[in-house]
Order: sequence, then structure tokens, then C-alpha cells
Amino acid sequence: MSTELAFQSSINPAHTTTYGVNEVLTACPQTGDLLDIQYDWDRVPVPGSLKEFESRWSTRRNPLDFSGVWRFRELLPFAPEDKIVTIGEGQTQLQQSEHVAKFVGVDDKNLFLQYEGLNPSGSFKDNGMTAASTHARIVGAKMAACASTGNTSASLAIYSGVTKLFKTIVFVGSGKIAYGKLSQALDYGAVTLQIQGDFDDALKQVREVCRAANIYLCNSVNPFRLEGQKSIMYRVLEGLNWEVPDWIVVPGGNLGNSSAFGKAFIELKELGLIDRVPRLAVINARGANTLYQLVEEKGLSWNGGQPDEALVNEFYQAMDADNRRASTLASAIEINRPVNLMKCLRALDFCDGVVREVDDPEILDGKAQVGAGGLGCEPASGASVAGARLLREQGVIAPSDRVVCILTGHQLKDSTATVEYHMGKNGQSGSSCANSPIQVENDYEKIMEVIRQIS
Ligand code: F0G
Repeated sequence: MSTELAFQSSINPAHTTTYGVNEVLTACPQTGDLLDIQYDWDRVPVPGSLKEFESRWSTRRNPLDFSGVWRFRELLPFAPEDKIVTIGEGQTQLQQSEHVAKFVGVDDKNLFLQYEGLNPSGSFKDNGMTAASTHARIVGAKMAACASTGNTSASLAIYSGVTKLFKTIVFVGSGKIAYGKLSQALDYGAVTLQIQGDFDDALKQVREVCRAANIYLCNSVNPFRLEGQKSIMYRVLEGLNWEVPDWIVVPGGNLGNSSAFGKAFIELKELGLIDRVPRLAVINARGANTLYQLVEEKGLSWNGGQPDEALVNEFYQAMDADNRRASTLASAIEINRPVNLMKCLRALDFCDGVVREVDDPEILDGKAQVGAGGLGCEPASGASVAGARLLREQGVIAPSDRVVCILTGHQLKDSTATVEYHMGKNGQSGSSCANSPIQVENDYEKIMEVIRQIS
């Protein structure tokens, strides 16, 4: 066992070998399993109650106390303070929305939207990238890379652009990324490789390239990233005056967020900082529903740390044999092989979780409702609202349950999807919430005619 305060170890509970935090690893060298960052909590000065973190609100001039990630630094204590890389991430908010509550079907005051689009690069990824960038700095990385459906790349690019600590290469699937996101990587100065393929192809390539060329990998197989993403849950609790909600509903792509949320709750419970755990709902797009199929249809589970790997391999073999590829308008979550699958199973197990799938029209309706009565979000985030509505219809969520939907990305990330939805493109002509623009001649009387009709 390590004598360090923070160390890395396999998520497989049967393997207890530990690795130092100065090692750059994306899998356990012995077993190939995903890695966790673990702590010797007895030696960490963790506050006796979460409320104590509020004292940091009065010392916001310290960038570490300003950051919505690092003001909780005792809960992710892997880095010396002078190595922490922050660009002011995590200034996000929990919004109560009666409009979205009505759409979902819960009591007026019971629906909350955790708006991660307010991060510097416009998505939740900054919560993780501040942690990965910090680790990259600790190990002295000169170059970092990731594969992305667009938000990870925007986030990595902004951290390297602002801090100049390392150069960045991002791998994206050609034609598979919303323009808002591509524009960010270009603007922030990342070398951008457009691979002829989808996210899974790009991830496979970047993993090999990083291994061969000693480049620091920033995808969510990097266990440090997920440490930062735990803080989304700390801020949700903070927004609810440290009360635990009944449900956390989150879109599932590569399953980094759901995995990080589960780890946050496992640790908070172990530390006695919460007395109960919310239920977790992970929402897949129907066109990219690997998790849904494996968990809800084939019965895959964490199984005490021994999930049925043969079942997973069989599923992927059949996927390849049938040439089935993920396809959804929610391009952020258009993923075939979620790399954090096993960690997500652990989260579902601990949080008594469920997985659901929603189709693209449902996702876009959910997104439009958030736009009309919330803070706006990109399509993938709309899946959480659509999923909450489905779970309510199924009677899994009760009207009296307090539900938090995670809005993972900003509305302006994918304005094409929004405009096409409202203008009835992509077969969306029957959209229940469409608000298409009205064409009017450049003529005062004609304009007034329209105004009279709507008033
Ligand atoms: N929502 C948005 C807006 C995303 O960008 C992503 C993932 C997800 C949800 C899914 O989160 O992977 O933690 O389950 N985007 C990655 C990317 C894959 O490359 O930007 P997850």
C-alpha cells in the first residue's frame, strides 16, 4: 500500500496495488482496468460539514477559492496548491425552473437545472480539465491531446491557450462536431486533426499516438479529470443548501460525468458529509444507447466489482459485425464504446441508478423547453430533461421528488441544431415547441399586420 496521501489504484476491488500520483497512467498496468484517484482520508483535513466550505465565499480574491472546483480542494487533494491550474471554472448555478417542472411533470418547485454551460469554455468539461491540466503541470507535460465530440477539445484548448503550459492537439471526427465547438478549438489555438471517422475512431487513434509519442492524454480515461468533475455534485448540494436531492439526471456519452458523480457520493457518504445518496439516472440518446442496452436490456451490473466482461465483449463484437455506428443529432453523446462503462456501473450500483434512452425529437423538445423556461442548453443536455420526463411518465420519478437535471453544455454550442429544430428541418416539422421565424416583406404595413396578429 502507498504511504502517500493521494495515490492511484485499479477500480477492481480485488487488486490493491497502488501507483503514485506522479505517474501518467490511463489504465492499471497490471490488469488494464480503469484507475481511480484514492486518498488516505485519515490524513486529509476534511471539514466536519459541507457548510464549512461557505467560508471560502468571503475569500474569493484567491483564485483557488474563486474556482468552483478548487474551493472544495480538500475533497480532491492530489495537488500542491502552487501547482493548481485554474482559469475561473465552475462559476455555475442551480436554477429552479417551474416551466421545466411542468414539462417534466413534477411539482412546481421540484425541478432544478444545474447549468454547466456557464463555464469558461461553455461546458462541464472545464471542471475536469482544470484537474487534468494541474496533473499535466505536476508531471511536466509539454504536449497534451484528446479526442472529442467537441466540448473536451474546446476545454483542453482553452486551458492550454490561457495558461501556455503545454501545446495541444485535438482529434475530432470529420463532420461529427458542432461548429460552435470546432470554432473554439481553432480560436484557442489548438492543432486540430479532423479524422475521417467518428469519436470512437478518433479516441482509438489518440490513445495510440499519446502512448507512442509520450503526449499527455486528457480524455476521461485520465482519472484526474474525473476528480474535478466531482465538484459539479458539490455545487448542486450547495445550491440546495446542502440538502441531498432525490434524483440526479445526466446525459450519458463516454460516462465520465456519471462515474465522477458516483465517486463523489461514495466519498461524501464515507466521510459522513451526507446522510443519504440521491438516485442517479443516466440518459442515452436512442441512436447511441450502449449503456441502456447493456444495463437495462442485458442486465449488466457492477456485481461487487466483477462485472460480466464477456457480455460486454460479445455486445461490441456484434456491434462491429453488424456495422452498427452511433447516430444522433445530440452529437456530443454520439459514442459507441463508452470508456468509463465500468465506473458508471459502480455509480449506478451505489446510487440505485437507472438508465433510459430517449430519441432525437424528445431530446430536442427537452432542449427547447429548457430554452423557453430555463437557461438554454445544447442538444445532449436536453436528454436529461427528456429522460426525467420519461421517468416521471413511467412512475419511477414521483411528482414530489426533487429532481436535478444537469445541463452539460451551453445553448450556443450548436446553434445549427436549434435553428433547424425551430425551422422544421431534420424531420422536426411536428416539434411541439417549435418557434419558427416569420418571413415578412420589407414593408411597414405588412410588418404591422403580423404584429396585430400576435398581440
Ligand atoms: N453533454 C455534453 C454537452 C458533452 O459534451 C458530453 C461529452 C456529454 C454530455 C456526455 O458526458 O462523456 O461524461 O458521459 N462530450 C465528450 C466530448 C465526449 O468529447 O466533448 P460523458
